Amino acid sequence: MSVDAAQCYGLVGDNGAGKSTMLKILSGVHAPDAGQIRLEDRTVQFQREIDARLAGVEMIFQDLALCEDLDAAANIFLGRERRKGKSRWFSFLDHARMHKDAEEVLESLGSVMPTDRQVQTLSGGERQLVAVARALEFQPKLLLMDEPTAALSVDKVAVLLDLIERLKERGVALILVSHRFTDLIQVCDNIGVLLHGQIVDEFAVAGQSVDDLTTRMVRQMSGIGTNG
Ligand SMILES: Nc1ncnc2c1ncn2[C@@H]1O[C@H](COP(=O)(O)OP(=O)(O)OP(=O)(O)O)[C@@H](O)[C@H]1O
Ligand SMILES: [Mg+2]
Repeated sequence: MSVDAAQCYGLVGDNGAGKSTMLKILSGVHAPDAGQIRLEDRTVQFQREIDARLAGVEMIFQDLALCEDLDAAANIFLGRERRKGKSRWFSFLDHARMHKDAEEVLESLGSVMPTDRQVQTLSGGERQLVAVARALEFQPKLLLMDEPTAALSVDKVAVLLDLIERLKERGVALILVSHRFTDLIQVCDNIGVLLHGQIVDEFAVAGQSVDDLTTRMVRQMSGIGTNG
């Protein structure tokens, strides 16, 4: 599969088809047994997640992967905390700034939530937005999103889809895994169907009706194919 800058690639498939596994390989969580990953014009090998992150690949995990006992701001800035103090040897965490910046990025996602509450006390949708905010703060070149809308209310889904459009305008490449066909059709340029770990069909969205696209996805996902 391939995705260009400023485009969104939708990945669909039945439960267990391998979508999350695919994204985890691209983000350095799993090592591939075979195949190649090319980013821009070079082949990359990610041994760990940090390698992928340094190369500009960021992932929003299906299970969100947040630290339950830290607050929203601490989760968003985990691993690249804002600091104050100029000394090379000695600096303080700039909590005020992290909370302010966290509020700003959450607000851009249409959400007002306390950034000083432990994440375990937040609702499912709020946690999902914290995970999205965290990924955005890294300013990735390639953003992998595994079911980012699953827990969101209708208006928050609209905000997230709008955000995907804005990221595309900024030149970010995205891969979106979702079971919600309408969301995929709305924001994706291309869609790939995964069946038992193989891409069995790939097509452009432009110029096709929602009905045709939906039928094609359903048939390919269940292994019926387009002719069967
Ligand atoms: N860590 C693991 N060790 C062994 N098998 C795994 C592991 N993670 C996933 N699998 C298996 O690999 C297959 C693909 O799983 P994966 O999570 O990629 O599916 P998925 O397409 O994301 O499904 P869903 O739509 O339910 O999220 C499944 O059969 C799953 O049981
Ligand atoms: Mg999955």
